[in-house]
Parts: sequence; structure tokens; C-alpha cells
Amino acid sequence: MIDFASIPPARLPDLLRAMPKAELHLHIEGSLEPELIFALARRNGVALPYASVEALRAAYAFTDLQSFLDIYYAGASVLLKEEDFFDMGMAYFRRAAADNVVHAELFFDPQTHTDRGVSFATVIGGLSRACEVAQRDLGVSALLILCFLRHLSEEAAFATLEDALPHQDKFIGVGLDSGERGNPPEKFARVFARCRELGLHVVAHAGEEGPPAYIWSALDVLQVERIDHGVACLDDPALVARLAAERVPLTVCPLSNVKLCVYPTMDAHKLVELLAAGLCATVNSDDPAYFGGYINQNFLAAFAALPQLTAKHAHQLAANSFEASFVDAATKARWNQALDKVFAAG
Ligand code: HPA
Ligand code: ZN
Repeated sequence: MIDFASIPPARLPDLLRAMPKAELHLHIEGSLEPELIFALARRNGVALPYASVEALRAAYAFTDLQSFLDIYYAGASVLLKEEDFFDMGMAYFRRAAADNVVHAELFFDPQTHTDRGVSFATVIGGLSRACEVAQRDLGVSALLILCFLRHLSEEAAFATLEDALPHQDKFIGVGLDSGERGNPPEKFARVFARCRELGLHVVAHAGEEGPPAYIWSALDVLQVERIDHGVACLDDPALVARLAAERVPLTVCPLSNVKLCVYPTMDAHKLVELLAAGLCATVNSDDPAYFGGYINQNFLAAFAALPQLTAKHAHQLAANSFEASFVDAATKARWNQALDKVFAAG
């Protein structure tokens, strides 16, 4: 038994940093730091509409999801070769390892690249090689989840799935991202049904900017196993009850929610309410290069702004991340033991 009550609040920041954790909501293209964008632009002879790293970073003042997506897709335009995807992946994995991430499930957006003439094989080749090296050299286990862009058509998603199938051994599931409003989950009912038939895991962004109805349809129509973001569920008590009863994980991203104005400030974030409702909430970084920090910064910022959060909550959030991950029970048990050890030491 861990004696959470005996852990002084002053220990929390160190525990948040030290505890092993899984990251389940990370867009690898959102980990492209301005410095790497400029380095890849130079390497590939791509012209950027920004004069310097500082000018690019200064443009990171977002008012909503779309204002971010416009810059995020522009940043990804420097990715052309397999090596670029590999380098981007490794830069993230080094940060993740430093934050004691033991496991990461990475989203990637193939359509952002194939629509620019970069082949699916190039994208997945570089990313899957980075996953292998992360495991071998950093001890971080890593899996890939292919995201369909929801502002594009279901037909385009089907074409992407066709492109991806020869590489099915290199990704474990599919997700749904990009502009949420006006693009409900049911737009992708048939392609998700096909993905489930193929034995792929299925997740979807829902209830970030969109209404609770999008979370319902992600569950009922797409039959997803996790909801990405999902914070809008709190507007619908029946939905909260369902998510809690079924332990449907929510991959919450605190810094993202503040940067994209889902909440005006971190102290208005509803992470405490989500946990109090018995939901399997997790903490993740979404697009860390754009939103001001990697996973530990998300934990530290949320815990600093929300004084109700305790050591017990920290342990719960890490345990939830393992529960919500797509790995076998024995591996989860091993990570949970390592987690308990950190907290037992106080
Ligand atoms: N929401 C939707 N699409 C995205 C996001 C997000 O937070 N990040 C990258 N693509
Ligand atoms: Zn996201």
C-alpha cells in the first residue's frame, strides 16, 4: 500500500517528473520544433514564409483549433525524405525518454504528406525505424496510429487506407484528427467499420471543440476504444456516466486546451472534475512543439494551476495511461510495479 497522505505537496513536481508514464495523444508532426523545421528546410531546399526561428515561434499565437492547424500543416511541408521522418521521430523520443515516458502511441497524418507527393512508404518507413531505435537505444516502447484528416472526404480516407495496407504490420490502429466542427465522426462510419474488420485499434478526436454529440457518435458509430480530448463530455451527465461505466479512456491535453482556447486559463481546466467523475483520464502533450511543452510540462502546469490535484491523482493519471494503452496485460503490470515503486519511495 502506498501512503499517499504522507507525501508532502512539495514532492509533487519531482514525482510527476520521475513517475513512469505512457503518452497516448501525441501528433508526431506536432513535435517538430522550429529549429528542426528550419534545419529540414535548409537540408531539403524548401522556402519558408518565416525569416527566422524566432519569427516562426512568434506566429504561435492561436485563437482556436483551425488557427493552429494552418501553421501546423505549413510546418510539416519541410518533411520530404524518409530520413526527415526518422529525425523528427527521434527528436521526440529523446524528449519522451527524458520525461520518463516508457511507452508512446504516436499519431501520424499521412494525408498531410501524400497530398504533397511524399509516398506513404516514405512516411511510415522513417517513423517505424525511429520506433525501433527508440526501443533499442532509449528503452521507450512505441507504436504508431494512422490518423485520417476529418476535413477531407471519407473517400480520401479509404484511399489512404489502401495505401497503408501493404504496411499494416507497422501501425496498430487508426484515429481521426484535424478540424472537428462540421466534421462529425459519422462522416467516417464506413472506413472505420473496415478498419475494425481489419483488426485495427480505433480511436478518434471528439469533444475538443465539438459537442458531446460527437463523443456519442465516436462511441456508437465508430465504436472507438478511446476518445482523444473528450473534455466536452462534462456538458452531458449521461455521457459522463457511460464513459465512466465503460472505462473509456480520455486522452486529455492540458496545455493544448489552453493554447487553443478550449479553456481561458489552466486554472479553469476540468481535469479534477474528469477524475472525480471516475473517468479514465490521462495527461498528454498533443503537439508539444506548438503548445509550450512535452508531457512533463503538461503534468507540471496542470498540477501547479489546480491545487486540488494530489500525489494520489498523479499516480492515478499514470496508472490510467497504462490501462488505456494498447499493450498486453503483463507489460501493463510491469509498468504499474515501476510506478508503485516511485510513489512508495515517497
Ligand atoms: N485536434 C485536432 N487535430 C489535430 C490536433 C488536435 O489537437 N493536433 C494535430 N491535429
Ligand atoms: Zn490531438
